Amino acid sequence: MRSMSRDHAHVQEFFGARAADWDSRFPDDGPAYAAAVAELGLREGDRVLDAGCGTGRALPPLRAAVGPPGLVLGADVTPGMLQAAARAGRDREGRLLLTDVAALPLRSRSLDAVFAAGLIAHLPDPAGNLRELARVVRPGGVLALFHPIGRRALATRQGRRVTPDDLRAEPNLRPLLAGAGWRMASYVDEDDRFLALAVRGA
Ligand SMILES: C[S@@+](CC[C@H](N)C(=O)[O-])C[C@H]1O[C@@H](n2cnc3c(N)ncnc32)[C@H](O)[C@@H]1O
Repeated sequence: MRSMSRDHAHVQEFFGARAADWDSRFPDDGPAYAAAVAELGLREGDRVLDAGCGTGRALPPLRAAVGPPGLVLGADVTPGMLQAAARAGRDREGRLLLTDVAALPLRSRSLDAVFAAGLIAHLPDPAGNLRELARVVRPGGVLALFHPIGRRALATRQGRRVTPDDLRAEPNLRPLLAGAGWRMASYVDEDDRFLALAVRGA
């Protein structure tokens, strides 16, 4: 395991405390994850990373999309989340990596796609971390930034308001992605889903 910084300590504490009942808090999200994964356009044999995979809720649809010859990786910095993923048997769908997405133990251009659900708001250096995700994806490969509810609904659930400086707001996200090597191809922010798709530049 690589050494973890104080940034990680906060994330690990927050999500570690929520890992055991993460899936039972959101029992009906499965179809939304499957629909978002479908938008990646994966093919049999593709190589895909679930960045910030948590309990691995996206791993079954990712495995279904790439089939037995494909490569499915789930990376997360919180040990308790990966332990919950393994307890749920999701380590059979993909290989679990305890690692920070800021420094992935993967070769450059080795993947076809990255799926990241609920991750980006928790990153201490979104621009740098999105650049690291771009590093490991081949040109033309795809990134999905997903959340099973939209920004406004999430803010309401968390007892706050959406502010203009929210980095997932389209006017902020598009240049953030562009600066990190991604071209935003589509953007949806509705009550029942947030999904931004981006393509890795050459
Ligand atoms: C909101 S949860 C989402 C989990 C999962 N993707 C899902 O949709 O159920 C965010 C996850 O990102 C992980 N995470 C946050 N920062 C990370 C980082 N720098 N590297 C890897 N994982 C990170 C957390 O540990 C947590 O499991």
